[in-house]
Amino acid sequence: MGVGIIGLGKYLPKKVVTNDDISHLVDTDRTWIIERTGIEQRHIATTETGTDMACRAAEEALGDIDRNSIGLVLVATVTPDDMVPVTSAQVKRRLGLEHAVAFDVNAACSGFMYGMWTAEAIIKNGMVPGAATMEVKRALVIGVERLSRITNWEERSSCILFGDGAGAAVLEYSPEEPGILSTYLKNYDDHKGVLTCGKGYKAIPFWEDKEAYQHLSLRGKAVFKFAVNSIEEVTLAALEKAGLSLNDIDWFVPHQANLRIMDAAARRLNQPLEKFQISINKSANVSSASIPMALYDLQKTGKIRKGDKVAVMGFGGGLCAAAAIIQW
Ligand code: ACO
Repeated sequence: MGVGIIGLGKYLPKKVVTNDDISHLVDTDRTWIIERTGIEQRHIATTETGTDMACRAAEEALGDIDRNSIGLVLVATVTPDDMVPVTSAQVKRRLGLEHAVAFDVNAACSGFMYGMWTAEAIIKNGMVPGAATMEVKRALVIGVERLSRITNWEERSSCILFGDGAGAAVLEYSPEEPGILSTYLKNYDDHKGVLTCGKGYKAIPFWEDKEAYQHLSLRGKAVFKFAVNSIEEVTLAALEKAGLSLNDIDWFVPHQANLRIMDAAARRLNQPLEKFQISINKSANVSSASIPMALYDLQKTGKIRKGDKVAVMGFGGGLCAAAAIIQW
């Protein structure tokens, strides 16, 4: 018995921004970006809000699933449209999920993983006879970002990396299916501020405080190193919890931050890159949305079969990392 994924959805905004487009903004070129990151293009939300994108991905994930059966909506995002109401509340209202409890989580690029872990725990807890908590049989977990809003479009080493989009998954408890076999999460302290995004605000009238911008800032090489090290650590820990080894895994679905990070992780884990889902070329790094979007791509291509074991790995600001082993 376990909690498994029974539906996946994805939404990418219509506007495509190529590497050539970016080379008109900053001093860069198409070849540099592809060689250093694997990114060919990204989608940028020009008309869509985060809630629009989250709803489109969620609608696809829900398909024919009875909306009244959704007991929880959990949205992972670092770029909510509004602070209040939170995105999950707006999705719940728009999709008419009458019986759902809704809240957002923010764990940077690992947000979807932290959301999935939370949803699994809530679902499982409700299954315990006499549990104090209410019963949630199905949950909708969404990762959505409008990173274009917090990207510094004048900074060439970071603006090439990000895109907008949404991915969604419906999780369900099943007495027969194994689903999520294990999850391992770890937070490392970001002592040196290698990956940050301050909060923007207007100048404050009562003290000398200048206006602040809200821009993602990263020390690329340090983040790169953290990513490769943490992927290895959390994946091995999740495998150990599941009583499995690396060669038992059919597919690896890492956060899509840089193709070279995935390549380095594959070499560290002594696994062929062909077992890794690569979606970064078409949609760049979409933080919380990257993992559900990559899972969607893996399923859509028909590569994944029932019974396959999938290792899903996240890492991001905080610094935080997570891995989950899921039997499909
Ligand atoms: N075009 C051309 N040249 C560039 C560009 C660009 N867009 N950006 C940087 N350069 C230059 C630098 O100025 C530097 O020039 P110099 O040698 O004259 O000083 C040179 O290229 C090398 O720069 P590095 O920063 O050393 O390049 P690197 O190979 O490390 O690649 C990158 C940079 C792509 C940012 C890489 O470090 C990376 O991907 N790191 C991980 C970042 C990441 O994962 N970000 C996601 C953020 S959040 C998350 O998802 C975890």
